[in-house]
Amino acid sequence: MQKEEIWQTRENIAKTFGLASQSYDVSARLQRFSGKHLMPWLPKKSDLTVLDLGSGTGFFTDLLASNYQQVIGLDISTNMLRFAKSKRNENILWIEADAHKIPLADESVDLIYSNLVIQWFDPLNVAINEILRVLKPGGLIIFTTLIDGTLHELKSSWKQVDNDQHVIDFKTVDEMNALFNTGQSKLLEQKCQDIILEYQNVIHLARELKGLGANHLPNKKNRGLSGKDKWFKMTEFYQDFLEPSGIYPATYRLFSGLVVKLNN
Ligand SMILES: C[S@@+](CC[C@H](N)C(=O)[O-])C[C@H]1O[C@@H](n2cnc3c(N)ncnc32)[C@H](O)[C@@H]1O
Repeated sequence: MQKEEIWQTRENIAKTFGLASQSYDVSARLQRFSGKHLMPWLPKKSDLTVLDLGSGTGFFTDLLASNYQQVIGLDISTNMLRFAKSKRNENILWIEADAHKIPLADESVDLIYSNLVIQWFDPLNVAINEILRVLKPGGLIIFTTLIDGTLHELKSSWKQVDNDQHVIDFKTVDEMNALFNTGQSKLLEQKCQDIILEYQNVIHLARELKGLGANHLPNKKNRGLSGKDKWFKMTEFYQDFLEPSGIYPATYRLFSGLVVKLNN
């Protein structure tokens, strides 16, 4: 992707999430689950500087602020930050910035927490270099992300209708390992699990993805609304996945990682 295209893409991501900021906390069932299951990996020491990368509405930033001395919430979306500032612990420092260019000093942070954000980073290795730059040697990254296999039902239903990209490209487990197991960092622990959420119909699923700001597609050729006919056809193919109870399942393949920055 050209530099200009990358910036446009990031601006679109910020806008999409911004529009979702008001509805996000009610529709974020997956986020709540994934963010909470990272808790056992959090260090017990309290005198730490912690960065919540892609802090969204600040739900987990608030939890971190009750455990750690200094907590920073960083997000690219103005509206998400506005919402977070109005609702959360007033000691939190909020920064509007892009994770690919973090406005913090080298080796200034002890711990980076990031829940369901890094799947939006592109190129991911640039963001990881930034993360490792601001992290102190021996510092930890505790994160979740979605990986390949996520929304496979939706992907395969659309595939039978057209060749447009309707679901973002997710990294594989091997790619995650290659990105974090380098001379600079090591993936100490990892977990991969399928979370299957249930929907009354495909419109319910589409609404939740929209509510989460997850409807942004960087490489989508046809940016307009898919025609009603196409949408209808897709929902027909989706019925192949219907559960006996008439519920529509959607798979989210969740990858959780505990990474240490090596002392070089
Ligand atoms: C799915 S939400 C997760 C929010 C929060 N971590 C939570 O668990 O509730 C993803 C967040 O990442 C932010 N984001 C996406 N790309 C970003 C980037 N390049 N830099 C900083 N934040 C970004 C979005 O604005 C959004 O608030």
